[in-house]
Amino acid sequence: MSYDVAVIGGGPGGYVAAIRAAQLGGKVLLVEKESLGGVCLNRGCIPTKTLLKSAEKWEDLQRCAEFGLQAGEVGFDFSSIVARKDKVVAGLRAGIEQLVKSNAITVLHGTAVLTGAGSLAVSTASGTETYETGKVIVATGSAPSSIPVPGRELAAVLTSDNLLELTEVPKSLLVIGAGVVGLEFAFIMKAFGCEVTIVEMLPTILPMVDSDIVKRIGPVLRKQGIKTVAGAKVTAIEEAAGGVTVKVSTAKGDQEFAVEKVLVAAGRRPVTEELGLAEAGVFYDRTGINVNERMETNIPGIYAIGDVTGQSMLAHAASAAGIVAAENAMGLNSVMDYRAIPSCIFTTPEIAMVGLTEAEASNQGLSYTIGRFNFAANGKAVTMGEPDGLVKIIAAAETGKVLGMHILGPHASDLIMEGALAIQNGLTARDIAHTVHPHPTLSETVMESAHGTFGEIIHQVKMKPR
Ligand code: NAI
Repeated sequence: MSYDVAVIGGGPGGYVAAIRAAQLGGKVLLVEKESLGGVCLNRGCIPTKTLLKSAEKWEDLQRCAEFGLQAGEVGFDFSSIVARKDKVVAGLRAGIEQLVKSNAITVLHGTAVLTGAGSLAVSTASGTETYETGKVIVATGSAPSSIPVPGRELAAVLTSDNLLELTEVPKSLLVIGAGVVGLEFAFIMKAFGCEVTIVEMLPTILPMVDSDIVKRIGPVLRKQGIKTVAGAKVTAIEEAAGGVTVKVSTAKGDQEFAVEKVLVAAGRRPVTEELGLAEAGVFYDRTGINVNERMETNIPGIYAIGDVTGQSMLAHAASAAGIVAAENAMGLNSVMDYRAIPSCIFTTPEIAMVGLTEAEASNQGLSYTIGRFNFAANGKAVTMGEPDGLVKIIAAAETGKVLGMHILGPHASDLIMEGALAIQNGLTARDIAHTVHPHPTLSETVMESAHGTFGEIIHQVKMKPR
């Protein structure tokens, strides 16, 4: 059997690549060993956001009186919350199956191995078959990284995959790694009454986030009752009554934490094993498969996209790269541009960023100006009872072009798109500031912050002249 394009992996990179190749007239094979939708839909973005929505509604219920509302006895049933999560995931998965089918893509539920530049062996429940394929797109994603700590194999030590399967809220959780996964789960579990401590190896939490945002998330974490210990190395995890003891070493001395469960959220690694990459001559290492800007590997006709390339491990980056790879596989000439990939962390309030952090702009020797605007001065945020956070814009001093946008605040993940659009299209902070934004909306914070890059914020109380 022969196909124009075979895609290995049906996550947000792979299934999008398959659809794009089919749109361009290709006969497409999509091989997936588990469920379509990949980690994003089945064990990542969607299940966590479903749990988060329940957590937010639960927190809203507890704040009823603040909004002049009275409710009777309120409570939650975690197993029903988990059941809703599973239903949402199943519904969206059915949607993807439908999408793929409607594009006449052949889906095989099995494991694919490269057997040369133009062929694949696919093992399914009914045996192994070889398929001739003009082009191959590898989209096998990533898996949680392990940590070199004794006791990591204990049953109480979980990855994000296992944590999503819990049907009861643990009494206490220690999260190893204050990155995206660590923070998102910390907020969810804390909202449902779990005592959460986050331990981070580096000197600050969220090391990849702009320092102004990190400074402002600290008090938010404290208000929520989430403890953080930065600059801390986990040295051992030992079995104990009711859970485990986690031993941690810090500059100030050693500490021990007795907890019911541990979540290892110390990054993810590309899934490159058992794919026949080495035999096919494809260059890769532990950071992922090497690709050029056309998402093609060193072997012509073999492409790789998404987490398996180790570049920007985000679902939307994988989808964008999938479109680029599919177009190239079908004879077009597309390039992937990573300059303006927004990144969001679904804490409460949310964090979102795009482009350069201030530290990156400074390290690159760029000359820049900064605008900052607090949500506390935005009418809509105040009406919502969500005044925490700010919008920070970094603009090039000479041209005013937006270099970076960083948001901590309500709906940050939606607001960040104005920054992505600006950076992608070379727009200036004045372009944003002089575009009329509707009132009363959260988007006015972006407009005001843009004004701030050239000192013209309207809703800012002037300091008294000395
Ligand atoms: P991450 O790279 O964001 O954070 C891992 C953190 O763990 C880092 O701060 C690191 O310094 C720390 N760490 C590593 N080893 C440690 C140790 N032994 N002890 C203590 N701390 C340690 O990785 P994370 O959070 O696991 O996420 C993996 C990937 O998935 C990321 O690329 C992330 O962007 C992506 N993701 C994106 C989401 C989103 O877009 N909302 C949600 C979840 C994950």
